[in-house]
Amino acid sequence: MKDTNRTVNEKILEQLNWRYAVKKFDATKKISVADWDTLEHSLILAPSSYGLQPYKFIVVTDENLKKELTPAAYGQTQIADCSHLVVVAYKKVLTDADVEHFVARIVEVRNTPRESMKDYENTMKATAKKNINEGTIETWNSRQAYLALGFLLETAALLGIDACPMEGFNPAEFNRILGLDEYSAVALCAIGYRDAKNDWMANLPKVRFLKEELIDRR
Ligand SMILES: Cc1cc2nc3c(=O)[nH]c(=O)nc-3n(C[C@H](O)[C@H](O)[C@H](O)COP(=O)(O)O)c2cc1C
Repeated sequence: MKDTNRTVNEKILEQLNWRYAVKKFDATKKISVADWDTLEHSLILAPSSYGLQPYKFIVVTDENLKKELTPAAYGQTQIADCSHLVVVAYKKVLTDADVEHFVARIVEVRNTPRESMKDYENTMKATAKKNINEGTIETWNSRQAYLALGFLLETAALLGIDACPMEGFNPAEFNRILGLDEYSAVALCAIGYRDAKNDWMANLPKVRFLKEELIDRR
């Protein structure tokens, strides 16, 4: 079947079946500038609660830095061999100043009168304080960061670019090496191109529960 005859639905599912969490990247293959720009935009365009974006993404392409980080990810070779390593970091707190920074951005982008933002601003500040008082601020903020990781993974798959999401690393070590303080690393995403010949995972069928088990229709 010609590509042009395929429906978008088929193409999306084909790409989501094609993707897998790559164990072995081809270290010689690098992502093009145009593709990387799209991938970065998928991070920027991810939704977050209130739109607060309590996260940061550190993009590591420096070969020496990737090598330095590898032991802190228990030697997983994806770190050194990928083209781009994204360190997903969430903000450890959310202050009034952070909310004000976001409100200022809304005013700038939408030309909204500052005074009209007061109620929304107070709601956001109150929600942030509630999460701080209840000890859930780090959970709340890191959840937002995971959504962006999901956007990145899906966009990579649609572009035919490989990725491996990773939690198998020592966040304290990553924070130390990358000089993170206000933010903390919570997940990684190694991105590049699979070395299919040397990746034992490359041709294994996907393991998922049946649709009936995961989707509850009412
Ligand atoms: C949050 C998260 C953390 C993960 N951590 C690792 C990891 O440290 N190393 C690794 O090789 N794969 C890691 N994986 C990949 C999963 O094992 C993989 O996504 C899962 O087995 C499903 O397989 P598939 O993604 O290949 O379809 C992680 C996946 C997620 C979503």
